[in-house]
Amino acid sequence: MTAQERLIVALDFQTAKEAEQMVLTLGEHVSFYKVGLELFLNTGGSILEFLASQNKRIFLDLKFHDIPNTTAAAARFAASLDSVSMFNLHASGGTQMIKDSMAVKRADQILLAVTVLTSLDDGDITANFQSPLTASELALNLAKNSKLAGANGVVCSALEAQTIKKHCGEDFITVCPGIRFNDSQVGDQKRVLGPKEAIQNGADYLVIGRPITADPSPKDAALRMLEEISKA
Ligand code: C5P
Repeated sequence: MTAQERLIVALDFQTAKEAEQMVLTLGEHVSFYKVGLELFLNTGGSILEFLASQNKRIFLDLKFHDIPNTTAAAARFAASLDSVSMFNLHASGGTQMIKDSMAVKRADQILLAVTVLTSLDDGDITANFQSPLTASELALNLAKNSKLAGANGVVCSALEAQTIKKHCGEDFITVCPGIRFNDSQVGDQKRVLGPKEAIQNGADYLVIGRPITADPSPKDAALRMLEEISKA
């Protein structure tokens, strides 16, 4: 894959206007965008039409998490959107939920299971789940379950990507948020890695939001990301 194919820019904006402006600013340098809850809900989904009109690939990051029947219904909706090439659900929703959603997605779509949010560290896992596992161990367990259930891959921290590939196979896709330049703000993310290191550690795709979109010059930041990815 080329550096550009690996880069997914997260459009975390409240309005279509801000998101569209960002897409136009980044122009030909970025071809893959992530639409999450904030933008999808605020625009009633209409942002997808704009991205399709610009010939951009779309990762619909709505992280479905419900009983199997309800989640599969949501997956059927994602499958009906021609412009959506990737979407996701929470791995912790269980094997049946993943299986039923895989059964209704389009063959050309990638369905990912979110393992452990990159905003959670070991202390959060202990405090919230009373689990003796580290965040990485829990992420690996969830990845293995997702693989058994037939998911195409996972959303995980780049810190875990290599281990997940070792256990689930090279072709099991790893999509990694929590990517930061050495000099960028970490914000609410905790399990972070640089772009070059992330690719070297087995990340297939990098989801990058604020290090690009909050930069005074988003285009320069995107070019710097692409250069770092190319060095891997
Ligand atoms: O701004 P930043 O680079 O932290 O954005 C990361 C994006 O990836 C956000 O849109 C966030 O919702 C998303 N994400 C994440 N961790 C996950 C799954 C998705 O940070 N496990």
